[in-house]
Amino acid sequence: RAEVQAKSLALSEVMTKAGEYYKQQLRSAPPAIAYLKKRGLTGEIAARFGLGFAPDAWDGLRSVFADYQAPELVEAGLVIDKSDEEGGGRKRYDRFRDRVMFPIRNTKGQIIGFGGRIMEQGEPKYLNSPETPLFQKGYELYGLFEARQAIRDAGYVLVTEGYMDVVALAQMGFPQAVATLGTACTPTHVQKLLRQTDHVVFSFDGDTAGRRAARRALDACLPHANDDKFIKFLFLPAEHDPDSFIREFGADAFEQQVHEAMPLSQFFMREMIADNDLNSAEGRAKTQFDAKPLLQAMQPSGLRLQMVRNLAQVTQTTPAEIEALFELSQPVAR
Ligand code: UTP
Ligand code: MN
Ligand code: MN
Ligand code: MN
Ligand code: MN
Repeated sequence: RAEVQAKSLALSEVMTKAGEYYKQQLRSAPPAIAYLKKRGLTGEIAARFGLGFAPDAWDGLRSVFADYQAPELVEAGLVIDKSDEEGGGRKRYDRFRDRVMFPIRNTKGQIIGFGGRIMEQGEPKYLNSPETPLFQKGYELYGLFEARQAIRDAGYVLVTEGYMDVVALAQMGFPQAVATLGTACTPTHVQKLLRQTDHVVFSFDGDTAGRRAARRALDACLPHANDDKFIKFLFLPAEHDPDSFIREFGADAFEQQVHEAMPLSQFFMREMIADNDLNSAEGRAKTQFDAKPLLQAMQPSGLRLQMVRNLAQVTQTTPAEIEALFELSQPVAR
């Protein structure tokens, strides 16, 4: 246990050093600076998020670490060891090359990972740190450290999909934004968010992936939804994400979107009836079938009762019948 802690400390030092290096490299990388400007970011906001640049070199980090062969660099996910079978002279190389770097911090502010964006077209668009002893993707939220005070001030948190959404929203007057890291929103994410605030507004991309992400977020929220929590979903036009929307339409228009966001209970009903024909007995039964695991995932609460009532209404049953059919009366052991 003590050993694990000592190692984690070393890794976080490694990440801090790398973050300083990338930040410093950005200053002498005009194309990267031009890229960030083109994306509408100011130097001030880049500094606030500690943005950096990984130069186009195979071993740029050699100048940072006395021992480029140290095992900690692999464990930190900063370099990749090429296996011998693959041959070739070079055995170890930097993971991040020629990318704009977004440091990911834990709630103490320590760098635990990076996301690196390619500036031209190319794959992958964002390269992320692998899972390491410091960095678990299903647990961490990009921007939470930077957003914590703003979340308290605003009284709600905006949950987006992307690095750029967080940084752009912050610059445009919404510093209370965080992002899931290219993964689905997990119940652990939701729990973490609800420790910061009782209002959560999900604002994913308007595309199909974003809509799917919203559905996954709904599922992740249900175990934690409660009568004193307000969880909402904001649906942007299909071709937009929060970054592109706020740049095209401005802060007031985005504020209006937040204001009009759909409450969880309404999104739930919309999802349940979307693929079912409420005019047939089979369609109404299927609606109930689809809703059953979702309502079972909820704690007994006034909100669950309201959702049961809404479901009863559209499926031509009574709340008591739904509760009996779904065995909702007792808290479900999970
Ligand atoms: P998007 O494709 O919506 O990217 O993916 P974006 O944030 O809008 O990027 P820009 O505006 O083109 O710069 C949303 C998020 O999914 C993760 C990243 O966290 C990204 O911000 N992602 C996406 C990856 O991890 N890798 C990828 O190749 C693409
Ligand atoms: Mn509140
Ligand atoms: Mn997208
Ligand atoms: Mn984008
Ligand atoms: Mn996007």
